[in-house]
Amino acid sequence: MKEFFKEYQVIGDEETGRAMEFAVKQALSNLPEFTDKFQKAYSEKNFYQPTENVDWTTGFWTGELWLAYEYALENKELFEDGAAEKLKRAAEVQMDSFLYRIDNKIEVDHHDMGFLYSPSCVAGYKLIGSKVGKEAAVKAADQLLTRYHPVGEFLQAWGAMDAPENYRLIIDCLNNLPLLYWASGVTGDSKYRDIAEKHIHTAISNVIRDDYSTWHTFFFDMETGAPDHGATCQGYRDGSAWARGQAWGVYGLATAYKYTKKEEYIPLFEKVTEYFLNHLPQDLVPFWDLEFTDGDDQPRDSSSASIAACGMLEMSRYLPEEEAAYYITIAKKIMKSVYDNYAVKDKTQSNGLVLHSTYSNHSPYNTCNHYGVDECNIWGDYFYMEALMRLHKDWNQYW
Ligand code: GLY
Repeated sequence: MKEFFKEYQVIGDEETGRAMEFAVKQALSNLPEFTDKFQKAYSEKNFYQPTENVDWTTGFWTGELWLAYEYALENKELFEDGAAEKLKRAAEVQMDSFLYRIDNKIEVDHHDMGFLYSPSCVAGYKLIGSKVGKEAAVKAADQLLTRYHPVGEFLQAWGAMDAPENYRLIIDCLNNLPLLYWASGVTGDSKYRDIAEKHIHTAISNVIRDDYSTWHTFFFDMETGAPDHGATCQGYRDGSAWARGQAWGVYGLATAYKYTKKEEYIPLFEKVTEYFLNHLPQDLVPFWDLEFTDGDDQPRDSSSASIAACGMLEMSRYLPEEEAAYYITIAKKIMKSVYDNYAVKDKTQSNGLVLHSTYSNHSPYNTCNHYGVDECNIWGDYFYMEALMRLHKDWNQYW
């Protein structure tokens, strides 16, 4: 453990409770504007604007409503009368929208079906047995299978399936795969799980570099399926470690282990996590690329901190006691800093939950557009709540 980790405080139960209480109240006060519409992927001057259900990110808003519902149901005395019921009704309206979206194939020709449908519709099925949620999520899993390339054995992230410039996977996709495992579970059809397992193997064999930093994206030869080369899209440069990519790797390896129980994924989880931790600045919340650290005039990506904390908390469920305690302690220290230094504490400041995230920061060496820099983003808010929920109780995951 880095020296400064030892000195850092852990988030306590009382603060975790206070943070969840604020998050639930924030969700409740957002309902009038964000029930028929969704919060956009990123805020503008720290305030989210409404959007239709069209981006890859809208499931996180519904996921926040479900997390808020769970907490409000357990802690009725903290909230207005009927709070849990109101949150549930709003999430149900949104599940209808997700069913409509998949039935009408609205912006679903990409791999992010898991990010869209796990925290919204799988959650609704698990929490209240929603038939709409189940139908929509199974259809979304079918849609995800259409992104599979038998030549190369991976799920293609973006773009036309027959274009060589799109013949690649991205590290983020590991967190889309729980949808496929869930679909095999509810349908009894192993085809979803079989493809998830092939993708996991291909992804993990290629995106992790020798020093356990990770490629954001990895290309394959269209004719032979042979691994070709790694490249970044949202990181600073090809050879650097995009902070959120590394965080997706931490959480993705934990979920890969959860579903496959392959022992060889444990040391990979440990090393990829170690790389992430060793490149954190003093306050434990990364800059947008792990190339940068204290003293660099660069934006943070607070969402990466919460994503990695969720991954460590997930993996702690499967590790021996002492190692599990190590990762829980680290996750609590990271969340203490997110809560103290980044979380919104007053709704006049923002209608979101966590400030200082970075969605897509253009650099001279990357290929992404420039937006959502040093703002709230919707998955940063969602994974902040998920991490708090995991610290609050033995949580039945949506993933
Ligand atoms: N999955 C896209 C992102 O993390 O920005």
